[in-house]
Amino acid sequence: MKICIMSKLLLFLLLCITIVLPGCSYTDPKDVSVLKTLKKQWKNLPPTWKNSDPCGDRWEGITCDNSRVTRLILFNMDIEGTISEDIGNLTQLWRLDLSSNLKLGGTLPVTLGNLVHLDSLKLINCSFFGEIPDVLGNLENLTYLALNSNKFTGKIPPSLGKLSKVTWLDLADNQLSGPLPVSANDGWGLDQLLKAKHFHLNQNYFTGEIPESLFSANMALRHLLLDRNQLEGPIPNSIGLVQTLTVIRLDNNRLTGSVPSISNLTKLDFLNLANNSLIGRIPNLTSLTNLNVLDLSNNQFYPSEVPAWLSDLQNLRTLIIESGQLYGQLPQNLFSFPELQEVRLNNNSLNGTFDMGNNITSSLHTVNLELNNIASVTFSSSYKNNLMLKGNPVCSIPHLSTTAYCKDVFQQKAAIGTLNTCNHPFSGFLVFRAPYFSDASDHITKLEQNLTNTLKACVPNNLSIQDYYFDSNTYFWVHVKICPIGQSYFNRTEIINCLDLNSQGYNPPRVYGPYYFTASPYRSSSIGKPYIIGVAVGCAVLAALLVLLGVYAVWQKKRAQREKHMNDPFASWGSMGEESGEAPKLSGAKVFTYDELKISTNNFKEINVIGSGGYGKVYRGMLPEKKLVAIKRSKEGSMQGGLEFKTEIELLSRVHHKNLVGLVGFCLEKGERMLIYEYICNGTLRDCISGASGIQLDWSKRLKIALDSATGLAYLHDHANPPIIHRDVKSTNILLDENFTAKVADFGLSLFVSDSEIGHVTTHVKGTLGYLDPEYYMTQQLTGKSDVYSFGVVMLELITAQPPISEKMFIVKEVRIALDKQDKQYQGLKDLIDPILINKNEILVGLDRFLDLALQCVEEESSKRPTMNEIAKEIEDIMRIAGFKINSGLGFQKRFHPAQFYSMDASSSSSSRANISSSDFRYSGGFPSQ
Ligand SMILES: *[C@@H]1O[C@H](CO)[C@@H](O)[C@H](O)[C@H]1NC(C)=O
Ligand SMILES: *[C@@H]1O[C@H](CO)[C@@H](O)[C@H](O)[C@H]1NC(C)=O
Ligand SMILES: *[C@@H]1O[C@H](CO)[C@@H](O)[C@H](O)[C@H]1NC(C)=O
Ligand SMILES: *[C@@H]1O[C@H](CO)[C@@H](O)[C@H](O)[C@H]1NC(C)=O
Ligand SMILES: *[C@@H]1O[C@H](CO)[C@@H](O)[C@H](O)[C@H]1NC(C)=O
Ligand SMILES: *[C@@H]1O[C@H](CO)[C@@H](O)[C@H](O)[C@H]1NC(C)=O
Repeated sequence: MKICIMSKLLLFLLLCITIVLPGCSYTDPKDVSVLKTLKKQWKNLPPTWKNSDPCGDRWEGITCDNSRVTRLILFNMDIEGTISEDIGNLTQLWRLDLSSNLKLGGTLPVTLGNLVHLDSLKLINCSFFGEIPDVLGNLENLTYLALNSNKFTGKIPPSLGKLSKVTWLDLADNQLSGPLPVSANDGWGLDQLLKAKHFHLNQNYFTGEIPESLFSANMALRHLLLDRNQLEGPIPNSIGLVQTLTVIRLDNNRLTGSVPSISNLTKLDFLNLANNSLIGRIPNLTSLTNLNVLDLSNNQFYPSEVPAWLSDLQNLRTLIIESGQLYGQLPQNLFSFPELQEVRLNNNSLNGTFDMGNNITSSLHTVNLELNNIASVTFSSSYKNNLMLKGNPVCSIPHLSTTAYCKDVFQQKAAIGTLNTCNHPFSGFLVFRAPYFSDASDHITKLEQNLTNTLKACVPNNLSIQDYYFDSNTYFWVHVKICPIGQSYFNRTEIINCLDLNSQGYNPPRVYGPYYFTASPYRSSSIGKPYIIGVAVGCAVLAALLVLLGVYAVWQKKRAQREKHMNDPFASWGSMGEESGEAPKLSGAKVFTYDELKISTNNFKEINVIGSGGYGKVYRGMLPEKKLVAIKRSKEGSMQGGLEFKTEIELLSRVHHKNLVGLVGFCLEKGERMLIYEYICNGTLRDCISGASGIQLDWSKRLKIALDSATGLAYLHDHANPPIIHRDVKSTNILLDENFTAKVADFGLSLFVSDSEIGHVTTHVKGTLGYLDPEYYMTQQLTGKSDVYSFGVVMLELITAQPPISEKMFIVKEVRIALDKQDKQYQGLKDLIDPILINKNEILVGLDRFLDLALQCVEEESSKRPTMNEIAKEIEDIMRIAGFKINSGLGFQKRFHPAQFYSMDASSSSSSRANISSSDFRYSGGFPSQ
């Protein structure tokens, strides 16, 4: 203890000497006064902003040169407020980056136009609105202008045409409107930005024609993104002059006319003209041999034979021409293009015989030819992936090998499961707006490697990609999680200097195309900061430190109070119309409007459905703060009344446990009842053990999953108030997160038991076939032990990977019989154990105890079954003896004594097994399955 204090004091002294002696740089008083004004209007600033001298005291995010502030970078600091017009007094500012501060908003002050030295201005993914000020055109040295993902309205100011040095112009994902300005019409215009390599203007409301004068041969443009606007008229001929172009996205506009010649654009990698009203001949793309992605779908091209040039585009990865009025036969060599992944030519008039040949490239995963005129198919033995032929004459011929391709096809989502755990990961999304592929599996590891290498040079970290998917715009979202190494948090300086992947220094592999990065809010630790501040203040020593600590504590308390206040979302309960009574008292859950959820799920598009059942569907949604959620939308009439719904969410919102799926909020509006849960990325336990998700679980993971879910259920039984009986424990209700931590889901229809202990309640029998407690079925008396029975079945699934009931087989019975055959040696079980466990050549330490435990859970008589709490304890014990890390932080109050139920030796447990009653087979009868 004393040594510790001494060494701290010594360190303190050293810091005093190193910081204070050379630290005589004072900030220019004008800049100090501006920063103080900004500070007054911004919340959540770094703690270092408390000191008096921004340059000398090294305020985080501030860089100075000759006493003047030259950089102001507060990327992802959770800043809240608006930008004061006084910012225009920081006249030496060279870089300004306030990106990923979702609570930073308001309009942009015109005084930004005074910052004439600015080289880069980034305000990505904040909440700015209003018009983009004209005066930004005065920033003559600007090279990088990114205002994307805000809520700007109005036109693009023509004055931006004065930014002759701009290489990057990103105004995407706003609400901008009006025509694109050009000098011929507006005095100044985008046509003058001859150095610009990036026009990212997608996802706005631009109207009018794309001006002919926008493009010229002396431009340097590489990425042209104009998709998702309301542009009309023809594609200008001049586009064919810009030979530097590699990406063109004009899809989802209202373009008409025929496609001009673009045969000189030989560098083009990506061309998407889909969902317009283009007419004329399908364009001649003979010379575009670099093309990786081509999409011409849903236009009104004249009917034509399958174009001959398709055979020349050897680099194609994705070919999509839906509704293209194509007839004739596809060239066979298309299917041997070395990198081909996806061909979608559905809804054309392709006819004759379809033959992919024998040299089919291995990366090809989808060929969709639905709704064509194909009369016969020659099958190649080498192709095993998706081939969709529904809606062709060939499907009306009864023929064994064809019929499989004539059904609806459901595609599996690729899952990756890199283990990467830490308590305070920094996470965010890289959004790629024109990826050169449609199947990421070949590319994702390269990206992970590339990101790792880039960041490693700056800060020790452990980076992994958690999840990735294509949204309905075919933008590719990659969720990265970055764990600090050697510290528990990233500090603010590291976030600003290292983790801002919008920096011009970061180059993802070329196939990823244009991108932007948006980070999730991150709260850096403030612990230890006051200590450093104390030093920097000038070693007025510990008194100052204490004062600051005091201030900090008060600030923290105030913030906590403020947050508490903000989390009371029920002001509008009564106004929801259909509900009566008091607003539910929620802790943590939030009310969502129907419109919010509609936006977050892209109008409840089918592509976002991640599950469905009798109750309705579950959608994946993305909240504005880029948080993924699972939205359970009840079918009309499938839910109980308003009052019950209210009681239920009230109770659910109080249940917080790391092994239970958390309720984020709900929506009760327009006759809709929706529950919003946290999104759990690795899907259900059932999918994992059945192999459907491509994940393989080893023995230690299975034990951990059993422990986690038992812990979650024990919490519901013993610690929720009132106690909760789940009533539908099964492997599809256990979800696995990115670290394979199991979370029990769907206790939304559970029964709340009103006495303080779990007694029994008479209810009509609910549950799922195969998991249902026989005693409960017969007596209709529900107790916590019914969950225990179902959990026992899940444990057997973990060992055998088999569904509880299939054909005439019932897993409980199978296991019992197998065990009886060869007694203690578990030989008879070999055939039942999941081959994945055996193939791994792993010794399954503790399997015998685990099996015994499972069989006790599925005892006929509920009084012989252990409690959830006891089960969790026992699994923990098994794991400990097997030498597996537990890390579960079990906080059980009741101590479990193994003697209570696990005192048996092998012989007594096998005698208990001998009591198999023939009643097991009653399950194959007609149980209610939900
Ligand atoms: C910014 O400059 C203007 C004009 O020079 C002055 O009136 C104003 O007080 C300055 N603002 C701050 C915060 O220093
Ligand atoms: C713009 O940059 C040039 C070259 O670096 C420099 O000479 C000029 O002074 C800068 N202009 C402004 C307004 O900073
Ligand atoms: C393509 O470029 C060549 C030479 O650079 C030029 O002669 C030809 O006219 C161009 N074609 C089109 C369609 O622009
Ligand atoms: C397409 O253009 C190439 C030259 O670029 C030409 O040789 C070919 O005949 C054209 N094809 C069609 C169908 O017009
Ligand atoms: C198969 O296709 C590849 C790529 O087009 C080609 O290189 C190879 O020679 C072909 N093999 C045969 C046997 O035709
Ligand atoms: C395919 O359809 C086209 C246009 O309808 C027709 O001219 C052609 O003969 C058909 N080919 C075959 C093999 O049926």
